[in-house]
Amino acid sequence: MAELNARMREESGMQNKKISRRDFFGWVIKGGLLTALAGMAFPVLSYLWPVTRQGLNMGQKELGTVEDIPIWGSKKVIIGDSAFIVIRTPDEIKVFSAICTHLGCIVEWDAQRKGLVCPCHAAFFDLEGRIVSGPPPKPLSSFKAEVVNGKIYIR
Ligand code: FES
Repeated sequence: MAELNARMREESGMQNKKISRRDFFGWVIKGGLLTALAGMAFPVLSYLWPVTRQGLNMGQKELGTVEDIPIWGSKKVIIGDSAFIVIRTPDEIKVFSAICTHLGCIVEWDAQRKGLVCPCHAAFFDLEGRIVSGPPPKPLSSFKAEVVNGKIYIR
């Protein structure tokens, strides 16, 4: 008899630890609701977060220092899947997309002719990125460069 009572107590203790089907589905539904709320809150927070995190420098890209480039020299910079060509004249820094608007070859700086040459189909762009000759349908994209403490930035 004592053995039976001990077994019954043991079984009743185990029953207290079991989760009922109703509780289980209750937890699943609550978990699903929390996941859905988090999924809705994330886009809102990610929209608001960069404004405070990045401040005035939002979208700024650093392309190196002015000292890296001799006057009438150039430098190519690749950031992510974008390629830029930075040209230093005696008066200013010019930045263009280094991707030719014809078929996407990388343009080269021609210091003697003071323009950009595409080696693929011999296109030539002037110092403003305008087409002088060749098949490209559009000028090179240009970017306004800012120099802060000797470093070159574009937005
Ligand atoms: S790809 Fe540049 S001229 Fe054709």
